[in-house]
Formats: sequence, structure tokens, C-alpha cells
Amino acid sequence: MSRNLNLIFLGPPGAGKGTQAKMIVDKYNIPQISTGDLMRAAVSSGSSMGDKVKGYMAAGALVPDDLVVEILLDRLSGDDCRDGFILDGFPRTVGQAESLEKALEKRGMKLSGVVAMMVPDEALLKRLTARRICKECSASYHLEFLKPKVEGKCDRCQGELYQRKDDSEEVILNRLKVYHDQTAPLIDFYQKRKALYTVDGNKKIEMIFSEICDIIDSLN
Ligand code: AP5
Ligand code: MG
Repeated sequence: MSRNLNLIFLGPPGAGKGTQAKMIVDKYNIPQISTGDLMRAAVSSGSSMGDKVKGYMAAGALVPDDLVVEILLDRLSGDDCRDGFILDGFPRTVGQAESLEKALEKRGMKLSGVVAMMVPDEALLKRLTARRICKECSASYHLEFLKPKVEGKCDRCQGELYQRKDDSEEVILNRLKVYHDQTAPLIDFYQKRKALYTVDGNKKIEMIFSEICDIIDSLN
């Protein structure tokens, strides 16, 4: 690829950030960087970072900015990010967005665009309570909207599917509140920087994907 594609996927829990990011990875060959996935991996490995973040994640609260920024910037230094990346679930606060801005500037990198996926809360609750995730590759499935071909197994890598601990109704409701209070202000933040592209995330997965591809192809 001759141009850099430095993208952010912004949206509430369940908006489809992970689902769309996986499809974009396949088409544009840039890595998906999900801070949620990175921190779930840290928790499973039992590392000291995992110990620090697990309580916040279980409660559906945001992990403190300094910890998430450290994890993100470390991952962003990977060789595979040289041609671009999709940030899935980062930034989630204005403080994180400002840290990212500074870090990209320091590295001579520029954001290509921010894709914001809008979905009403009622639909999000329905998506998340019946979501299943692959233990190996983190692909998302849904018991009604996106069933795996073989029950309990990932179509992509045959990994075992599980339900995320924070996909209980009580924790989802807190994650939604946290989104509206702390993350939604980023819509205005990126609009002011003329970097925001909004998509209706309450449509069929393939239709949203096609809209996101049109946005990406219009960038630069
Ligand atoms: P994270 O893992 O990022 O979770 P999240 O933001 O809550 O987002 P989700 O992964 O739940 O949703 P998604 O948009 O990826 O939806 P998906 O594609 O799976 O973060 C988890 C936790 O980590 C946070 O609560 C926080 O504690 C911590 N954290 C992470 N990043 C942080 C940060 N930057 N700062 C601080 N803390 C941080 O789709 C959902 C479901 O819907 C699936 O079942 C899917 O099959 C289905 N679906 C997708 N699209 C459609 C569609 N168009 N129609 C119907 N169904 C659909
Ligand atoms: Mg996700």
C-alpha cells in the first residue's frame, strides 16, 4: 500500500467496531488495535498490567488514561503499524485523544480519519447480551444476527467461542453510561478537527462495511 491509513473507530459498546475492524483488516491489510483486546490478553496472562486493569474492566468502567495510553503507544510502535492501523476503542476520553495527537505528531504521523458508528442504546443491549467471542482471534458473533457456521466455533480460526464477562446486562448498562458521559464528547472533538465521518451503525453489517470502505477510499 502506498499511503498510510491511520484510522480511529469510535462508537458505543456493541456498535460494531470490532466486527467492522476485522473486515477492514482483511481488505486493507492494516492491523486492528483494540485496547479492550490488548487488556483482556494482559488479564488472561496474569501480568502486573492485567492485575491493574481487571477491576475496571469487570465493572465496565474506563481504565485510567495513563495505563491505556502506555499500552496503546507500545503497540503502535510495532513494525506492522508503519503503513497504518485501525484504533478500535481508543481514544475514549478527551485526555486520551490529546495524548494520541501529541504522540502521532512526535512520530511524524497523521490521523487519516475517525469513523463514528451510531447505534441506539436499545439495539446495543440486544447485540451485547447475545454476543459470543472467539478465544483465539477475538472475532465477534451473535446468536441471532451473526451465527457461526458451527455452533460454538469460530468461522475464521475454529477457536472456541465464549461470552465476555462484561456482557451481562448490568455491566452493559454501565458501559453505555460511561460511553455517553466520557466518550461521546470525542464526536465534537474530532468534528472540530474536520476528521469525523459518521455512519449509521444500525444497518446490516455488509451495508455498513461498504459505507466505511467508501469513506476510506475517499481519504487522502
Ligand atoms: P472493548 O473491548 O473495547 O469493549 P466496548 O467498547 O465495550 O466495545 P465492544 O467490544 O463491546 O463493542 P464493538 O463495537 O467492538 O462491537 P462488536 O463488533 O463486538 O472494551 C472493554 C473494556 O476495556 C471497557 O469497558 C474498559 O473497561 C476497557 N477499555 C478498553 N479500551 C479502553 C480505553 N481506551 N480507555 C479506557 N478503558 C478502556 O459487535 C457487538 C455485537 O453486535 C456482536 O455480537 C456482533 O456480532 C453484533 N453486530 C455487529 N454489527 C452488527 C450489525 N450491524 N447488526 C447486528 N448485529 C451486529
Ligand atoms: Mg470490540
